[in-house]
Amino acid sequence: MSDPQLTYRDPVAVLGLGPMGRALAATLISAGVPTTVWNRTPDRAEALVARGATAAPTVTGAVRAATLVITCLRNPAAVDSVLAGHDDWAGRTVVDVTTSRPDEARRLSDWADGHRVHLVKGAILTPTPTIGTPAAITLWCGDRPAFDAALPALATFGGTPAHLGADPGAAAAYDMALLDLFGTAVSGLTHAFALASAEGIDPRSFARYAAGIAPMLGEMTTRFADQLTEERFPGDLSTVASAHSGITHVIETADTHGIDSAVLRAARSVIARAVTAGHGEDGLARLARFLTPVRSG
Ligand SMILES: NC(=O)c1ccc[n+]([C@@H]2O[C@H](COP(=O)([O-])OP(=O)(O)OC[C@H]3O[C@@H](n4cnc5c(N)ncnc54)[C@H](OP(=O)(O)O)[C@@H]3O)[C@@H](O)[C@H]2O)c1
Repeated sequence: MSDPQLTYRDPVAVLGLGPMGRALAATLISAGVPTTVWNRTPDRAEALVARGATAAPTVTGAVRAATLVITCLRNPAAVDSVLAGHDDWAGRTVVDVTTSRPDEARRLSDWADGHRVHLVKGAILTPTPTIGTPAAITLWCGDRPAFDAALPALATFGGTPAHLGADPGAAAAYDMALLDLFGTAVSGLTHAFALASAEGIDPRSFARYAAGIAPMLGEMTTRFADQLTEERFPGDLSTVASAHSGITHVIETADTHGIDSAVLRAARSVIARAVTAGHGEDGLARLARFLTPVRSG
């Protein structure tokens, strides 16, 4: 398959017009990129058409109008079903930004190989208001020449687009790990509000102090990365044993109020494994080595 040759003015199709697909299409239109849109529920294209997009009645119509096809759908099953709506994909570039697991992204790459498609897999890490602004964070991987050719269009989405390599699962792998961080942080935040509320603390009073915790994570993140890289876990700032004691107090307080402590108990069981293995006096980054039975310490 020859390398894709795209320029800034090449027509782009956006398949999927949920909030993110609409934001991507609107950004392309604002940048002057000829944009065709398609959505399973056609009404969602109307506002974009008013701004200059062309609405295609079918997937085939959208794909034929474009050199670069962006899929932005609910999940990989929806991507499969939309891609099945067109037959002749040979030579096209498909950029899929649908949130996926790494194995699903690699399976999509198999589909692309079988249809002679250049696949660029993307992960959008920030919400729709960031699209088209410096605050957008997008990660990309897969076919590098296709990514380079598509970059003029992808760069309109904002931020600094980074290509992570040929592995089509790479962007999804980063995305999953970062969503892990986000999901558990949201769980911790909502749990903390519930506990504070049970103790009679109003949310705004609590927030004054809770807002000081989040910035600490920045420093901890780089410190943990260094310690995990060097396999060195000094306990000079805080220790695993101390964390076990601290989280036990939180669990007991939650229990006195009848607040669900299952997530805290799961976290404590990881800490307990590290203590049992003799790492009680190590720093907290050591806990990353106790999440799977095979990599225990
Ligand atoms: N919204 C954000 O801030 C954000 C941020 C980062 C990443 N993302 C990712 O971007 C992707 C799109 O998200 P979104 O917020 O735009 O909305 P969404 O609700 O996740 O997806 C809606 C889109 O998927 C389509 N769809 C769902 N099932 C379908 C099917 N079986 N066949 C065809 N089309 C189907 C919908 O079509 P209909 O209109 O016909 O229902 C609509 O176009 C997701 O993977 C999401 O995780 C979103």
